[in-house]
Amino acid sequence: MCGIIGYTGYRNAVPVLIQGLEQLEYRGYDSAGIVCYDHRKGGFFLIKEKGKLAVLKEKIGNFSVDAHVGIGHTRWATHGEPSRANAHPHIDASGRVALVHNGIIENYAALKAVLQKKKVRFVSQTDTEVGAQLIGRCYVKGKGKSLFEAAKAAIPQMRGYFAFVLLSKDNPDTLVAYKHSNPLVIGLGQGENFVASDVTALLPYTRQVIYLEDDDLAVITRKDVRIFSLKSQTWVKREPATVHWNVSQAQKQGFPHFMLKEMHEQPVVLRNILEKRISKKGDIFFDTMTGGFRSRLRQIDRVYMVSCGTAHHAGLVGSVAMEKYARIPCRTQVSSEFRYGDPILSAKDLVILITQSGETADTLAALREAKAKGAATLAIVNVVGSTIAREADAVLYTHAGPEIGVASTKAYIAQLATLLLLVFYTGKLRRKIHPREFKTLIRDFRRLPEHCAKVLQEGKRFEACAQKHFSRRHFLYIGRGYNYPTALEGALKLKEISYAHAHGYAAGEMKHGPIALIDHEQPVICIAPDSLTYEKMISNIQEIRARDGIVIAIGSRGHHDLEKMADEFFSIPRTQEVFSPILTIIPLQFLAYKVAVLNGRDVDQPRNLAKSVTVE
Ligand code: M6R
Repeated sequence: MCGIIGYTGYRNAVPVLIQGLEQLEYRGYDSAGIVCYDHRKGGFFLIKEKGKLAVLKEKIGNFSVDAHVGIGHTRWATHGEPSRANAHPHIDASGRVALVHNGIIENYAALKAVLQKKKVRFVSQTDTEVGAQLIGRCYVKGKGKSLFEAAKAAIPQMRGYFAFVLLSKDNPDTLVAYKHSNPLVIGLGQGENFVASDVTALLPYTRQVIYLEDDDLAVITRKDVRIFSLKSQTWVKREPATVHWNVSQAQKQGFPHFMLKEMHEQPVVLRNILEKRISKKGDIFFDTMTGGFRSRLRQIDRVYMVSCGTAHHAGLVGSVAMEKYARIPCRTQVSSEFRYGDPILSAKDLVILITQSGETADTLAALREAKAKGAATLAIVNVVGSTIAREADAVLYTHAGPEIGVASTKAYIAQLATLLLLVFYTGKLRRKIHPREFKTLIRDFRRLPEHCAKVLQEGKRFEACAQKHFSRRHFLYIGRGYNYPTALEGALKLKEISYAHAHGYAAGEMKHGPIALIDHEQPVICIAPDSLTYEKMISNIQEIRARDGIVIAIGSRGHHDLEKMADEFFSIPRTQEVFSPILTIIPLQFLAYKVAVLNGRDVDQPRNLAKSVTVE
C-alpha cells in the first residue's frame, strides 16, 4: 500500500526522500512524488509521476534543488485512478500546505462538498486532497500561525483510518505528522529527523525510532520531536526503541528477486527461532509472555485463529495442531469475516492474531473487536513495534527479519514454527502432551532447519517442472489434514505472482465437484507426505490419473509408490506429520516463483497487490 517518508535536517533532502521511497517500493504502488522546500527559490519544489520510481527519478534529474526538508509518497490507488494529478503530495488551494497521506478519509465526499461550497477548487479525485484543502483552510484562517494548530483543528472533522505528514511553506524546517490506525514511525538522528510509514525506509540512516501511537500528532524539526496526544489532549513522552534489523537484510544480496532470497533464508529463520525459543534442556520459552498471561492460557476454553491471506493458512495449520496437541477447540477465520461476524467471546476465549506486518487493517479491527468483548488476545507478529504487536495482550515475534517480497515465504514458515511451539507449550502447560511425546516433538523440531535446507537444494528440479507447465492457465492443489492449508497456500502463491488461476482444495472434496475439471490438460499438485491420511491421498491421486490428469506430487522421501504414480515427484525428508507443512510448502513456493519468472511477471511487486494491506 502507500508509503510515506519525511525528512528534516542538514542533508540534501531529495536523495534522502528518493532512497526512502525506494525502500518502500516493496509495499506496492502505482505513482510517486515528493515535495521539498527549495531554500534558494524560497518555495515548494513539487514533482510527481505515474508509474515506477525510475520515472520520477529521471524527471528529478533535470532539476537542481537546494532543499533540506521534504516529504515523499508512493501511492496505491484507492480514490481515483493512478495518475499524476492523483499522486501525492497534494498542495492546498493557498499553495502554502503540502500533505502526503496513507489510508482512507471515509467522509471525504461530505467534506469536499462543504469545501466546494466555499469555492475551493479541487484538481484530483482523491480523498487525500480533501485532507490537504481542509487543513490548508484551517491554516489560512489561523493566519498561518501554526501548522500544528491547523492540523489539530482539522483532524476532528475527518473520519477514517489514516496517517499523514504535512509541510508548510512558512515554516519549512518543521514537519507535522499524525497517526490514526495507520502506522507512522519517527527516525531519530543527530541534527536531523525522519518520519516514515515503515521502519525499513529509515534503516539507511538510523535505528533509533519512536513508534507513534493512535491519535499522536507530532511536530518534527531537525533538532527536536514533540508529540501531542489528541486522545489525552496533552504533550506526551514516547520512549525511543532500537530496531534490530539492518539495511543489508532489506537488500537482495545478489539474488534476482527478494522472494527468492527470502525463500533461501528459511533454514536460517528456523534456526533463529530454535535458538530463541528452545533451551538447551529442551524447554520452550517465550520471553514476552508474562506469568499472568500464562495462567490465562491454562484456563481458556476456546481458541480463535484470526488472520488474512498467507497468515490465515498458517492459522489453519495451527488450529489443527491446537486441537490435536493441546486439546482445545479451535476455530480459524479470516479477519474480514471475524470482525463483522459479531463473534461470541468471553474471558475464557483466546484470540490469536497472526500477521507479518502487524498493520493489516482487518486483523487490527478483529483484535479490537476481541478486546472489546473481553477475550484474551495474543499476536503472532513479524514486525517489531507494529500496531497489532503493541495493542494485543501478549505478543510472540516470529523473528523472520524484514520480508520485502509481496509474496510471503519466510514469514509463513516462521508463523508455522511459532504457532507449533505455542501449541506444544500450551499442551504441556495443560498436561495434554506426555513428557515423552514432548521430547520427541522438540527433537524433530530441531531437525527442521537441516531438512528445510535439503528441500531448497532441489531448486533446479523445480525449474524443470515449471518449464513444462508455465504456460498453463489453471492449476489445482489438493491436500489433507495439516497439508490442506498447504494446498491453499501453494495456490495463493501461484496466483498472486504468476496471475494463473489456481485453486486449493481438501482432497476429500474432489469427488464433490472439482473432479469434473480433470482431463489431460489439468495439472493437479498433490501434497501427500507421510500422514494419517496418506492412503486416502493415494486413492485421490489414482482417481486423477484414471482421468488423465497431470499429477505433480510432493511426498516423503522413499515413497516409491507415489513417485511411480506421478508425472513429477518432489520429496521432503521424513518427519512427523505436524511438521510437514513447513517443508511441503517449499517446492510450491519454487513452482510459483519459477512460473512467474518464466511468464515475465514482476515477482516482488505483483500487479494490484500491496505488502501491507492497511485499508479494508
Ligand atoms: O501482514 P499480514 O501477514 O497481516 O498480511 C496478510 C496478507 O495480506 C498476506 O499474507 C498476503 O496474503 C500475502 N501477499 C501472501 O503472500
